[in-house]
Amino acid sequence: MTCEHQLLAAKVPDVLPSTVQSSANFSMAAGDFLKVYTEPDEWDCVATCFFIDCAPNVIEFVESIYNILRPGGFWINLGPLLYHYSDIQCSEDTIEPPYDILRDIITDVGFVIVKEKTAVKTKYAQNPNSMLQHEYNSVFFVCQKPATIDTIFTILVNDNTQAHTCVQCLEGENGKAKKHHTQRRRR
Ligand SMILES: C[S@@+](CC[C@H](N)C(=O)[O-])C[C@H]1O[C@@H](n2cnc3c(N)ncnc32)[C@H](O)[C@@H]1O
Repeated sequence: MTCEHQLLAAKVPDVLPSTVQSSANFSMAAGDFLKVYTEPDEWDCVATCFFIDCAPNVIEFVESIYNILRPGGFWINLGPLLYHYSDIQCSEDTIEPPYDILRDIITDVGFVIVKEKTAVKTKYAQNPNSMLQHEYNSVFFVCQKPATIDTIFTILVNDNTQAHTCVQCLEGENGKAKKHHTQRRRR
């Protein structure tokens, strides 16, 4: 709208990593997500923001996130599905599943979707003062890798009020807790 808007400075990075408290468990890694983060059951939470559509094969991202989360851990995601490889020649095979299919993939991999919102109005990397504003109808979801029997026994030891639910969870298949257990724990 104005000359000031056109010449407004933008700082990169906007938060200096060196200003993060030294006691904070914070790190950055450069490299391919699929190759850098491979340790199974390591993380309590994975947050992806405008990221999953960067994959040539989004299923590999979903499987990798599932693998690195500890049982009971959460994946939080926000962003569109504007698949970055859809229009470029690529040596690999690429796929662009729409959200309803991706949702099935996420649950087939083993996640339980605990929160979900579609058509979330989001903007990305633009001048908020510009007369042109792009807006995404993003998807936001939180999903959980189900707790295993081992995790449930730990909960039983720490909180005997969960006993009733946990006994039912023992009936879950393949060592995975049933959905009701994870739902109960969130209350
Ligand atoms: C659309 S940007 C989003 C960045 C940031 N999450 C944000 O919200 O501003 C996607 C980022 O993912 C990075 N990226 C794409 N594929 C990746 C991969 N396989 N491993 C790690 N980073 C990747 C890109 O380089 C880019 O920086």
